[in-house]
Order: sequence, then C-alpha cells, then structure tokens
Amino acid sequence: MKRVVKLHFSPNGGSKAAVDGVAAGFAAEEIKDIDLTVPANRANTLAFKADDLVVVGMPVYSGRLPAISTEIFQKLVGNQAQAIAIASYGNRHYDDALLEMTNELSAKGFRVIAAGAVIAEHCLETSVAANRPDEADQAKLLKLAEEVKAKLEAGNDQQPAVPGDDPYKSIKGYAYPTGNDECDQCGLCAKSCPTEAIDFMDGRKTDPEKCMFCGRCINICPKEARSVWTEKFDGMQKWLIDNCSERREMEWYL
Ligand SMILES: Cc1cc2nc3c(=O)[nH]c(=O)nc-3n(C[C@H](O)[C@H](O)[C@H](O)COP(=O)(O)O)c2cc1C
Repeated sequence: MKRVVKLHFSPNGGSKAAVDGVAAGFAAEEIKDIDLTVPANRANTLAFKADDLVVVGMPVYSGRLPAISTEIFQKLVGNQAQAIAIASYGNRHYDDALLEMTNELSAKGFRVIAAGAVIAEHCLETSVAANRPDEADQAKLLKLAEEVKAKLEAGNDQQPAVPGDDPYKSIKGYAYPTGNDECDQCGLCAKSCPTEAIDFMDGRKTDPEKCMFCGRCINICPKEARSVWTEKFDGMQKWLIDNCSERREMEWYL
C-alpha cells in the first residue's frame, strides 16, 4: 500500500483515536495525518489519489454527522481513493450517521470499502463510555483492518451496506456553552475551538451562530469554567447516565 491518509474531524479525540486504531493495522510507504478539527486544515480542497487508502473519522451528533460535515465534504475530491468510514459515538446509537458518511464519501468519488461504528467517550457526559476506545476496542479496530486487507486481497472492493434510514433524521439545534466567573482568561478554549466560536478577548463569551456544541471547551477548561448552565443540560447528562451506561460494542461492515 502506497499511502494511508488519516482524515478526522474530532473535537474531543474519540474519532481520531478510532481512526488511529484502524490505520495502525496497515503498513504503508507513507502515513499522512489530516486534522480537520483545525479550521485552517478545512480551508482548501483536499484531493486524494486512486491508490490512497483514506481512513475517515467523524463523531455522531443526534444520530447524524455534525452539520459542519457538509462543509468538510464539499472540500474533498476522492478520485477513486479507497475509504474506510468510521463514525464514533457515545454509547447511545449511531442511527443514520454511518449511512450518511458512506453516502457522502461515495458522492465525493471515494470507493468506500468498509465502515465501522466505534464507541468513544461521550463528550457531553464523560462518565458514559469513559476512556473508550479502550484496549478491547483497539483489538477490534485492528481486526477490522485485517478483514479489510483480506477483502482487498480477494479482489473485492465493493461498498458495504450499512444500517440507517435515508431520508436521515432531522438535524437538531443545540444549546451552547459559556464561561462563568471561574474563567481566568487563559485563552485555551478560544484557541482550541473548532469553529472559532469563543471570544479571544473574553473566554466567557460564545458566538451561538458559530458554536456547534461539540463540548471541547467544556472538557479542556482547566478551571471547569465552561458548561451549559441549565437544568435541561443537567437532565440530559442524567438521561445519558441512566440510559446509555450499558456497554455497547463496535460494529463494522465490509
Ligand atoms: C451535540 C452532540 C450530539 C451527540 N449525539 C450522540 C448520539 O446521537 N449518539 C451517541 O451515541 N453519542 C452522541 N454524542 C456523543 C459523541 O458522538 C461522542 O462523544 C463522539 O465520540 C465524539 O467524538 P470526538 O471525540 O471525536 O469529538 C453526541 C455529542 C454531541 C456533542
């Protein structure tokens, strides 16, 4: 294999960990890593080659891909590169997200040869699926890579059928986090925000139009000064703990 490209949008690192886990199973002359969480890396067209293997990872938001994926897909030119689609989700369900990803990648000229739905720590309630993907998940990610290699060696590069409904679930509007008075203006959240939604001059302020509610600022704030300070958000976290704590396992399709 000439080149393996790791292509990920991963505000909280779960999708990236899943992509890394699959890519580790392939030997290639070159491994390229493209982090689409960084706004500058989404600015230009990304064109791939027919002999590339591209491992693509994105999170699931309310059973769909995040709305920003539309902007990401617009920039991709598959040129018949092979792709493995990876949706990471926080142990509830992935609903239509994997179908959406395989459809979009194929529309952009990729040959989708495999797809996986991988459980990762829930970024809005980190006690759910805490520290996943874990060792057992990593073994499954490598197994997926092995099965992909066997499929290709057998001369099969057909796109797998994946679960999900089309038309997809409708996209939800979200709340947005803000900072409280514990904020010491260190600027980490503003620097790390994937959509540049946080005010660089005052880290307590968020632009609701830009915020995609990825949870990154909540999770990285050293002062725990950012959250959605509402009973509704607390209730949602409690719902996740009560309903999504039973361990789910990775599913994959070839
Ligand atoms: C707005 C939002 C909606 C989410 N919806 C779902 C969902 O429908 N199902 C699920 O299992 N996890 C859901 N999650 C959890 C993420 O899919 C999960 O934490 C994912 O691994 C985050 O990816 P990242 O670590 O690459 O940012 C949601 C997270 C956010 C921020």
